[in-house]
Amino acid sequence: MSNTLIEVKGLYKLFGSNPKAHMPLVHQGLGKDEILAQTGHTLGLKDINLSIKEGDISVIMGLSGSGKSTLIRHFNRLIEPTEGQILVGGTDVMSLAEKDLEQFRRHRMSMVFQRFGLLPHRTVLDNVSFGLTIQGIKKKEANERAIEWLETVGLGGYENQYPAQLSGGQQQRVGLARALATNADILLMDEAFSALDPLIRSEMQDQLVELQEKLQKTIIFITHDLDEALRLGNNIAILKDGELVQDDKPEEILLNPATDYVEAFVRDVNRARALTVETVMQPQEFRITATTIEEALKQMRAHKDDYAYHVTDDGYQGMLSQESLEEYYQEDKTAKLTEEHYEDLEPIAPDAALEEILPETLASDYPVPVVDEEGEFMGSLSRDALAEVLSPEASSEEANTDKSAPSEEGSETPAEKDESKVKQPTTSA
Ligand SMILES: Nc1ncnc2c1ncn2[C@@H]1O[C@H](COP(=O)(O)OP(=O)(O)OP(=O)(O)O)[C@@H](O)[C@H]1O
Ligand SMILES: [Mg+2]
Repeated sequence: MSNTLIEVKGLYKLFGSNPKAHMPLVHQGLGKDEILAQTGHTLGLKDINLSIKEGDISVIMGLSGSGKSTLIRHFNRLIEPTEGQILVGGTDVMSLAEKDLEQFRRHRMSMVFQRFGLLPHRTVLDNVSFGLTIQGIKKKEANERAIEWLETVGLGGYENQYPAQLSGGQQQRVGLARALATNADILLMDEAFSALDPLIRSEMQDQLVELQEKLQKTIIFITHDLDEALRLGNNIAILKDGELVQDDKPEEILLNPATDYVEAFVRDVNRARALTVETVMQPQEFRITATTIEEALKQMRAHKDDYAYHVTDDGYQGMLSQESLEEYYQEDKTAKLTEEHYEDLEPIAPDAALEEILPETLASDYPVPVVDEEGEFMGSLSRDALAEVLSPEASSEEANTDKSAPSEEGSETPAEKDESKVKQPTTSA
């Protein structure tokens, strides 16, 4: 399984003129507001412990001012911690001498910014190759590589245009090509798609997922948008006032929000769209492995349910009901189990969204078998399990440890103030 690539341990960041002096107050447990009132210092991050896996898209979410940018700027040491450690591939970034840090920033991590950050007076080609020539790559090779990446992101032919001649989505593709061209294995994307209109944004999300399948980078993706987080993330970490309130798989965030704050993020999500079969199915330990009707019935009778799934070395075969088996037994108990003995029930794929399989699963009297691409039997999905996970009450009563719902009290980075951030976290369902 994948390894941890970035590890954050006991990270604190207190902004102000003398942060060390005020750390005792932080350790006493004073909140961000109290610290600010008493010391004039802003608590950016508080005791963050986080592991980021190699090859994952790790999403960091939270309202404006919650510390998302502060957190990822620690990864390449654009910000230094007040306390704590950041390990990248086992190396403590604070231990890097200036030269090594420079190498590290150029070769290991690249960043994609919200406002693209392109150089306006340089062509698209130069914007992408620039970072490569800084790395010491010869102009000719840098240009060749830049052209390749521009093609990869769908901008072949735009090399000699200037940023202002491109649409927002195209400019962001240039930003993405620039980041990818450096060959860095870690991409930091700070609200990289937030400035794009919804349609383009959705296209960029698809493109990122597609690229990621090929490139297997480690991507840290900041967003305010839960739909985007669910679409992209293998993991979602949620920050509130500088604290990590939940760090989980997307389906866990949806189904078991740790606090009211998280719950407010997930409240309006269309679960049928956001959840896949895999996250709701039940594993099925019991399988009929027999080859004849007689053996099959024997196995079925010893089992608590009156239906079961027939699975052989070749994988999933079909579903059997006890009632039918009893009848076949009367006809010819030595007959081999074949297609004609199975109940009429189409298997569903583990990665299908619930909305895709809703009608047939709700209509089925039996739990629907879940079978993967290789024909392997994974489990089953019952009507009850489906109804439960889609009912609006599900899981909300568990979220009660944090009484304060999301608010916009947190101060904002003035330069990044943005309309979209002032909204409550809602999602298009
Ligand atoms: N250089 C700085 N000096 C002082 N305070 C800062 C500095 N940078 C960030 N902060 C404070 O740290 C907190 C976290 O800011 P940060 O920019 O990380 O939030 P964010 O979650 O990225 O917000 P946004 O969604 O608006 O980008 C805020 O309260 C902010 O005011
Ligand atoms: Mg930010």
